[in-house]
Amino acid sequence: MSTVSSPILAGCDFPALATHYPLADGRETRRHYLDSAASTLALESARQVADALLAHYANTHSQAHFSARVTSHAYHWAHRQVLRFLRADSERYSAIFAGSGCTALLNRLARTLAARRPERDIVLVATLEHHANDLPHRKHARQVIPIPLTGAAPALGAVDLAALKGLLERYAGRVNYLAVAAASNVTGIVNPVHDIAALAHAHDAWVVVDASQYLAHAPLALSDTGAVERELDAVVFSGHKLYAPGSPGTAVIRQALLTDREPDEVGGGMVDDVTLAGYQVTARFPDREEAGTPNIVGAVQLGAVLYLLQNIDMARIHAAEQRLLRRLVTELTALPGVRLYGDPDLERTPRLGVASFNLVGLEHGLVAAVLNDYHNVAVRNGCFCAHPYVRELLKPDLWALDLDVDAADAEAKIRPWRGMVRASLGLYSTDADIDALLTGIRDLLARPEYYRALYTVDAEGEFRHRTFSIAPATLFDPEALLDRALERLSVSRHVL
Ligand code: ALA
Repeated sequence: MSTVSSPILAGCDFPALATHYPLADGRETRRHYLDSAASTLALESARQVADALLAHYANTHSQAHFSARVTSHAYHWAHRQVLRFLRADSERYSAIFAGSGCTALLNRLARTLAARRPERDIVLVATLEHHANDLPHRKHARQVIPIPLTGAAPALGAVDLAALKGLLERYAGRVNYLAVAAASNVTGIVNPVHDIAALAHAHDAWVVVDASQYLAHAPLALSDTGAVERELDAVVFSGHKLYAPGSPGTAVIRQALLTDREPDEVGGGMVDDVTLAGYQVTARFPDREEAGTPNIVGAVQLGAVLYLLQNIDMARIHAAEQRLLRRLVTELTALPGVRLYGDPDLERTPRLGVASFNLVGLEHGLVAAVLNDYHNVAVRNGCFCAHPYVRELLKPDLWALDLDVDAADAEAKIRPWRGMVRASLGLYSTDADIDALLTGIRDLLARPEYYRALYTVDAEGEFRHRTFSIAPATLFDPEALLDRALERLSVSRHVL
């Protein structure tokens, strides 16, 4: 077992790491947060910048007063940080904030690109996408075709470039764009997005990259070599996976994809003039794409994270995370009874700080519950909003169940096994977190029936401890905090 316990980013400021929870065995320990692929914790220095802005906070649509000018300046600064982070040419690309994750912007791109080239009726979507970069294209394109992956389940790899080339040739002139994750939220497997862009551009197809699972872990430039044919057309990501909870979804989009068409959303701030008879959309980016009052504070918090990460150096962060990931993958694959998903050969198939696995004979829900209740290890389990990919990875396991798929109870029997446990890393992850996870896994593998007897399954299929539970309100109670505020404010309480 390792004794090294410094985080990826030494001296990092994540106060949320200090949170302690009481456990089922009576201990109270610090949490081991291994769920960064779902959402990362808040980077304090960036949050402080957003808090400092509140002293000046005003609406960016106001202009004359000091506060409005300060706020607008900060909001524009956030856009610039996004463009700089992706090394985007601000003459040709715009940073746009919208929604609260990548979903709103991916829906917008799907609608906009479908309307832009209706004669191109096909969108190619990688088989490893999460629903945000899959369902919008299914909804708006006439036809979506999955791009196959290399390898075979359970060790599937990244997008298969030869198969992609074949699809582009077969559907020449019909492919509007490709939708591809820079890295999978299930396995962390990295796609060669610039090679994909070069192939797509040779067929006049655009490339929409979902970088939500990538940008917190490794550097990404719109073009890796500077060559325009390798340049991504749109990159979308979520600030809540980049140490800025509460920040907006973000996209860097080639302006040419958006100009000459009415923006997808209309409202205040994106028009030059409005009369009773009509309205004139502004030509200014990003204003034309950001109707309504934006999430200014969240955007500035995200801009602050991007500024910090760039100055720390994403290549350094990536190298440090790879050391931890290598250890995690090596130790998981060496444990008898652990099944790791996705190609485990990190040289052949690079991946970022994510590992999804199952323990043979143990339901993913039980494993996640025991890791939480007895080891204070926070992992996510299930299908991670990426059902098609998880189903592909699980095919050999589900076949091994040898169920009669036509039987009335087949679905109920299969459900507990359709899913995985996911451990994912962030800037604050340490060897101690991995030690805790591995200790929990060894404990479960050593006495599975002991733990199974302690749990029952509720109507939603969740594993619940028979005797131990902590009401969330005992850990965080907004009303208790507000009642204290009311006392401080000496306000007499109005009973509703
Ligand atoms: N897409 C997020 C995840 O992977 C929510 O958990």
